[in-house]
Amino acid sequence: MEIFEHPILRFERKSKITFFFEGNPVEAYPQETVAMALYRNGINVFSYSPKLHRPRGLFCAIGKCSSCLMEVNGIPNVRTCILNVQEGMKVKRQNGLGDLPKTSEFLKSEKEYSPTVLVIGSGPAGLMASITLKEKGVDVLLIEQNPNLGGQLIKQTHKFFGSQKEKAGTRGIEIANELVKELNSLDVNYFTNTTLFSFYPRENVFLAFKDNELLKIFPKFVVFATGASEKMIPFEGNDLPNVMGAGAAQTLVNVYGIKVGTNVLMVGAGNVGLIVSYQLLQAGINVKAVVEASDKIGGYFVHAAKLTRFGVPIYTRTTIKKAVGVDKVEKAILVELDENFNETSKEFEIDVDAILLSVGLQPSYQLLAQAGCEMKYIPSLGGYVPLRSKELETSVKNFYIAGDVGGIEEASTAMLEGKLASLSILKKLGFDVEKEKEALELDLAKLRSTPFSKKILQGLKEVAYE
Ligand code: FES
Repeated sequence: MEIFEHPILRFERKSKITFFFEGNPVEAYPQETVAMALYRNGINVFSYSPKLHRPRGLFCAIGKCSSCLMEVNGIPNVRTCILNVQEGMKVKRQNGLGDLPKTSEFLKSEKEYSPTVLVIGSGPAGLMASITLKEKGVDVLLIEQNPNLGGQLIKQTHKFFGSQKEKAGTRGIEIANELVKELNSLDVNYFTNTTLFSFYPRENVFLAFKDNELLKIFPKFVVFATGASEKMIPFEGNDLPNVMGAGAAQTLVNVYGIKVGTNVLMVGAGNVGLIVSYQLLQAGINVKAVVEASDKIGGYFVHAAKLTRFGVPIYTRTTIKKAVGVDKVEKAILVELDENFNETSKEFEIDVDAILLSVGLQPSYQLLAQAGCEMKYIPSLGGYVPLRSKELETSVKNFYIAGDVGGIEEASTAMLEGKLASLSILKKLGFDVEKEKEALELDLAKLRSTPFSKKILQGLKEVAYE
């Protein structure tokens, strides 16, 4: 399942380590997560559902669902897609949710931090926020639950659209490298592999978990840049291993150099579905078809044209009806839809070993809701989003947002919002940033002036307060 040749990417593979899966030795590269190492070795079933014991596998691959929970070194319910594999580690499938261990079994110590600003999430918004603050000498602590900084940029091999200022013409992976380099040159304090899981308002403390340590963080300001997660759609067999988000496939292929399958189906012909399909082709994976429920392709023509050149059929007014397989996907049954999106009697099947869903993203709002921020459901922004001021401050004082958590947009918008949230904090801290802030607001308005942003602007109006 390993990818050896790629037109853009080179995969660093040096020494190997050995860990144990169900008692058997498995080889892995130390820089990969447990889930990726299992996939590399052709293991797709990670657990069984509690009641019907149906096999379960990976879905998001970035720590945003619960589909990869396994028992690791005796501790159940570990998200194996964000846990780095280690020599001698013992990994087991679990049946349903395992029994919670006693805290003393996995919690070895506690540490406290009191940064001026806590930034949660290291995608384009979080990186830009941290850099902007640290450039002015503000004490920042950046928390990332994945092993790498950069959010979803680290798997984006395509070049960005937009204006030069927002790094148009540059690949997402290069933008991530540039921002991380800047972050390191400023010596920003950050933790990866660290999950921030709750906020206690009375004590004003955020709790996070890193390795076997509990972190208590007491910040003055917070920038929530937690990003988004992929949506699921209902169809028979959608819980079979190898039905996963298109972004998860992108992580496997572009970050770790692992094939998600040999023949795949992409569900959704928006920009993500089209771009990821092309990237799979670049990695030597056969995209058998792209299906789209609406009567036209949602993404840009230029992306669709690349697939057409490869002979990939794009079926509109068609969707997935059923995923078929025993322990993983073996075929997909597709169905044509009428103009009211009802299924017709026209069904056909294709042999695929992976079904990838590119059916939209939803903001990762859970922490904001738990922290007491006022939320609203706005479909054009992707789901539940927090109300916010022009300065990106939520209804909870000193809690700011930036990027997809406030509404699904582009990475370029996320970077500008990360900067804007930080400038707003800097202003509160007494820095003279008014001119810089005004210029940034103009840039943001310009980015959102295209016809594609019409619905976004309408959604943003509904969550704006002063
Ligand atoms: S949390 Fe690991 S696959 Fe979603």
